[in-house]
Amino acid sequence: MSQQVIGQSVKRVDGRLKVTGAARYTADQSMPGLVYAYGVFSTIASGRVLRIDTAAARRVSGVIDVLHHDNFPMLYRPPRSAIAPATILTSTITDESRTPFEDATVNYAGQFVALVIADTFEHAREAAYKVNVTYATNKAAATLDQGVEMNGTRDGGRGHSRGTPEAAFDNALHKVDVTYRTPVETHNPMEMHATVARWDGDHLFIYEASQGVTVHRNTIASVFGLTPDRVTVEAPFIGSGFGSKLFMWPNSVAASAAARVVGRPVKLIVPRAQMFTTTGHRPETLQRLRLSADASGKLTSLRHESINTTSMTDAFTENCGGVSRNLYSCPNVLVSHHITRVNRGSPTSMRAPGAAPGLFALESAIDELALASNIDPMEFRLQNISAVDEVANLPWSSNHLHEAIVTASERFGWAKRNPAIGSMRDSHEIIGYGMAACNWDAYRTAAEARVQLRNDGTVLVTCAIQDIGTGTYTIAAQVVANITGLPFERIQVRLGDSSFPAAPMSGGSWATASVTPAIAEATRNAIARLKSFAVADKAFFAGAKTDDLRFEEGRLTDGKRSLDFAAVLKGQRLANAEGFARTSAASVGKVSFKSFGVHFVEIRWDPGISRLRVARVVSALDVGRVINPLTARNQVEGAIVMGIGMALFEATEYDTRTGVPANNNYAEYAVPVHADQPDIDIILLDYPDLQLNELGARGIGEIGTTGLAAAVANGVYHATGKRIRELPILKEKLMDTAFPISG
Ligand code: MOS
Repeated sequence: MSQQVIGQSVKRVDGRLKVTGAARYTADQSMPGLVYAYGVFSTIASGRVLRIDTAAARRVSGVIDVLHHDNFPMLYRPPRSAIAPATILTSTITDESRTPFEDATVNYAGQFVALVIADTFEHAREAAYKVNVTYATNKAAATLDQGVEMNGTRDGGRGHSRGTPEAAFDNALHKVDVTYRTPVETHNPMEMHATVARWDGDHLFIYEASQGVTVHRNTIASVFGLTPDRVTVEAPFIGSGFGSKLFMWPNSVAASAAARVVGRPVKLIVPRAQMFTTTGHRPETLQRLRLSADASGKLTSLRHESINTTSMTDAFTENCGGVSRNLYSCPNVLVSHHITRVNRGSPTSMRAPGAAPGLFALESAIDELALASNIDPMEFRLQNISAVDEVANLPWSSNHLHEAIVTASERFGWAKRNPAIGSMRDSHEIIGYGMAACNWDAYRTAAEARVQLRNDGTVLVTCAIQDIGTGTYTIAAQVVANITGLPFERIQVRLGDSSFPAAPMSGGSWATASVTPAIAEATRNAIARLKSFAVADKAFFAGAKTDDLRFEEGRLTDGKRSLDFAAVLKGQRLANAEGFARTSAASVGKVSFKSFGVHFVEIRWDPGISRLRVARVVSALDVGRVINPLTARNQVEGAIVMGIGMALFEATEYDTRTGVPANNNYAEYAVPVHADQPDIDIILLDYPDLQLNELGARGIGEIGTTGLAAAVANGVYHATGKRIRELPILKEKLMDTAFPISG
């Protein structure tokens, strides 16, 4: 087995727990004395709480307490750390810097304004409905345009400039000057945000739906004025997060404070409607792209200027122009970001933050420029790929975008594309072919892991990293199996507990690239420790040198004799041989790390009823070594489906008069369902990036969501001649497109 387990399609080691219901998520957790909290949420988007009448709520049977800004305990505001790979393990980060119930201010609809604690969930909810809140209402900034008008904009950072883009644009032969818009998208993980909080003296234990227990532990500790060793955060199973669970939200603080006030463990689940308000979203964006090319189709200037919405309390920048700086070679570039305050909850990272909306705009505009230059959009991209990172002036660690595009285009059949608009037909449907590049930075953070070879013949791996449904349990086991040669039955992996060795968030496509080096090194350290036990006086290999021993399929051998590691330990009356490792963030300054890829999309449009479908997707990705093709493909398929959601369906809509979200539920916030699934063909190029880490694995979770909406929009243009620059591409937007219905 050794050496071959990396790269194998190993089934999820936690699969049985998932399908039998044995995997316990936060809301499943129970404990003696548990009571329930339910929120009262603001019905206005801007203003103040004038009065809270809790008399009727307190009369509901089983009600223990009602907390609000007049009686809520004083808490501390954690300092906001940078989200930096080298220092993440000690960071404190919140998405909403205002602590809940801090004052009477209302900044958004759906903000916690009170919290009812009762003996049952039903009693808490009933009482919450009976809390009577009186508000003074201000005019809300409900949309990006209203935010700009009422509150102006300010610099959101992450700008970049080189050369003289304005002059290059003015002098260029081919140019486009186009503006794109993307709406608020809500993450909508199946598992709702939830906290189960319990105090044991001065130690806070919480179960949390969290993508990052280490940072959550650090952050909530500082809120309660505790050192991090007095807080334990557990998230053994997470039903996805997509970024909404990266950092602490008010529910975690509210439940933890309530548990201390009432002296009982408290469970608080965020209702689905408030998953649209108080647990983050991808902000609304407005993006202006000005691009130019010379007669040969070489990019001569690129300007990408965006505005995104943020909340009244926090300054979140959607890094729309990040990829525009260096995906394509261009001497004259300007990237800028501005933010505008609106009365919505705080936005946060949503799967491929910045790149998802940014590449919708960039890869649509590249398509527009290619067509304006009369060059095939694929050829245009091939001839403009950047051979080096022109921002850092460094070579790429590994960039196979050219091969990805060529390989995928052959599999897709791009050569069969007739470029004439609406020319490709199949019966009553018009076929459109579109393509777009995808892109995501590759990171490796500091991480820790512990591995114990135990005298019962099993290996235990502990690491605080989470498995958010992506297969982290499985690849952790693969890393240990790869080094030890042990079968999976003898490898136990425990994750998602802040008392384990520290790990980053399962986000940013960081997890695999960051924790696999730590797990590998801890495994080798455990084996080294075992060897030192094995050569001790009176031990089995007494007198031998540790260098003469090899660990093979669970046995130590000197070439002549061998002994199972459990017997080595028992012979020395030892419980285990333990290895710990702390590995560092990727070194910066020699090369730039990125993942690359491409989507080719076939869309079908029935002009008779304006039915629009994504029929087929072929994607090729260059994400380094693929540790497990089964879980990797699963990640990319999910990302593509999420990209279809972005392209065709998803938008959280706010009442422009009140700022209240209108479609805050699964019925009215449309996401792709099984009937919307196209054929998806994924090519994983599998070039190990050994400068990033020893296995050569970059992350894979986010890249597949980028570029997909642009590929769809480009296909829609090919089919209909209509350039949709505002997502989602609702079929209503194509209904006025005149086309004869062919027989
Ligand atoms: Mo991802 S948006 O970093 O969970």
